[in-house]
Amino acid sequence: MRYTAIIDRLQDLGGDKWALHNESRRRIAAGDEIMELTIGEPDITTDPALVEHCVAALRAGRTRYSNGRGETGLVNALIDLYADRLPGIEEENVLCFPGTQTALFAVILALAGEGDGVLTGNPFYATYEGVIRAAGASLQSVPLRIEHGFVMQPADLRAAITPESRVLLLNTPHNPTGAVMDRDAIASLGQLCIEHDLWIVCDEVYEALIFEGTFVSPLEIAELRERTVVVSSISKSHAATGFRSGWSIGPVAFSRRLLPLSETMLFGNQPFIADMTEAALRGDFDTAERLREALGRRARRVAAAVADLPMLSASLPQGGMFLMIDVSRTGLDGEAFAEQLLERHDVAVMPGISFGESAAGLVRVALTVPDDTLLEAVRRMGCLCDELAEAAADREAVT
Ligand SMILES: Cc1ncc(COP(=O)(O)O)c(C=O)c1O
Repeated sequence: MRYTAIIDRLQDLGGDKWALHNESRRRIAAGDEIMELTIGEPDITTDPALVEHCVAALRAGRTRYSNGRGETGLVNALIDLYADRLPGIEEENVLCFPGTQTALFAVILALAGEGDGVLTGNPFYATYEGVIRAAGASLQSVPLRIEHGFVMQPADLRAAITPESRVLLLNTPHNPTGAVMDRDAIASLGQLCIEHDLWIVCDEVYEALIFEGTFVSPLEIAELRERTVVVSSISKSHAATGFRSGWSIGPVAFSRRLLPLSETMLFGNQPFIADMTEAALRGDFDTAERLREALGRRARRVAAAVADLPMLSASLPQGGMFLMIDVSRTGLDGEAFAEQLLERHDVAVMPGISFGESAAGLVRVALTVPDDTLLEAVRRMGCLCDELAEAAADREAVT
């Protein structure tokens, strides 16, 4: 049977990236006790008041068709939320989507197609490659270097831009590295986008989870507004990943063009989820603060524990839910290290290569498990390092 090009383009994605995670899940299902530090899901529940809000909306009959843009109450809450960053923001700047992921998919589909390039930092969030490929475009890697705290450097962006480039896809705070871009960093990359007439798409889903530094959006820089589209959601800020509630904020002309695509795909969102999201955005919930506090503390504790292991080094994230550990001094790449850690010590971490070749020497640790579990996982990493050092010494003695 025949399938379309989009299906073919997406076929070889995903499987390899998640092989280690899948193996960990297989072993858990078989009864093994595995410390799973692969996937990042907030480890606190959605605020019960928000769940009640959603249930009340369902009971009140908010179960009918919506419209392509989003329910008025939610759109107004988003206008209020972004009013300072996008002066003059109106209804037509806003579109609601089921999560950042769908918003990103639609936005990229609108801005890059067959033969176009989408520039993004490498390492990158695991779905970016699929989103870009689905559009028929190619991912143009810009290395994010550990020595620059994984913040994209203008010289690296300049070197990656080609005549095919159409979009710079940014993510701040960044998954997997935890880097947060400051105003100067965004402004200097933005200058290049102006010079080369590139769109800026900024994934801000971790905005609320910053533990060091201040969040800055390209929307806050006046010269960049006409070329910037922001995507975000309540998934992380309100520990509400399963509600699938997000949005895009972009120029009116762009959002008008995007609306028919959204309508064709979705035929509107769910009013009861829109009501709950409006309550989330307007209410005073402590979810993000609790998450921030826990994630920041865990990052510091893990980094301190890793600092005692001479073969490993951790880079302290400024935000997000993950921490990267450089394992290259063990003589293994991130993938082999992760495989051995799972096989011998029952700890599952993500190989850096799952997020791009720039992270091949790293592993990613999800900070979404209790502190003690993380510290025990680091202890086991230390055991693996000792074993690897002993094996290397034995080999040397033989030769
Ligand atoms: C960088 C990044 N963007 C987007 C998403 C998806 O977010 P949402 O649940 O809003 O679709 C995630 C989820 O982990 C993410 O890490």
